[in-house]
Amino acid sequence: ALRRADNVHWQHLDVDKAARARIKGQVPRVLWFTGLSGAGKSTVANLVDKRLHALGYHTFVLDGDNVRHGLNRDLGFTDEDRVENIRRVAEVARLMADAGLIVLVSFISPFRAERRMARERFAPGEFIEVFVDVPLEVAEARDVKGLYRKARAGLIPNFTGIDSPYEPPEAPEVHLHADREDPQALVARVLAALDLQP
Ligand code: PPS
Repeated sequence: ALRRADNVHWQHLDVDKAARARIKGQVPRVLWFTGLSGAGKSTVANLVDKRLHALGYHTFVLDGDNVRHGLNRDLGFTDEDRVENIRRVAEVARLMADAGLIVLVSFISPFRAERRMARERFAPGEFIEVFVDVPLEVAEARDVKGLYRKARAGLIPNFTGIDSPYEPPEAPEVHLHADREDPQALVARVLAALDLQP
């Protein structure tokens, strides 16, 4: 069968990723935050971003709640849609890393296979998986957006942790126990794991 990309060729570009990053005096990195809804992914990503930005790094944040209003507005929360959500986000993160940026990606990204697929798009050492870990009971007790309450009431089908699975990372570069340390301590852990030497 003819696939859609069969007659599409790869265009060689003379200015490569390393050259684009070098002009910024930085190395491309992808910080991939994963965890339950309400674990604190966006909070930690935002604080890490603020710190890196203040240090003069060129960063960008891709966040589930935001990307789902634009690029991925056609996708919902079935397994199939989540797979496509993460595939697109991984491709966008790759384009941004190719542009020389430090990209912070904050999505539940509940499936191991999709996170592995995302990781495989990057060079060794470039992809840093950050597991923002809290017990479901803690995320549910916080219920910042009131979504767990709605999910328990049957108003949100396929809610992660309730009736849709979350597969915890087996070997993340950074494992944050987000219910045991304050945000500043969590940020320090992420930065300590991040080698930004050009
Ligand atoms: S995924 O699984 O990676 O495709 O999800 P993501 O794109 O990160 O979107 C998660 C945010 O969408 C809201 N929301 C839901 N989450 C989980 N399950 C269901 N069914 C659902 N419906 C809406 C929720 O606010 C998530 O935000 P966070 O920031 O993770 O709390």
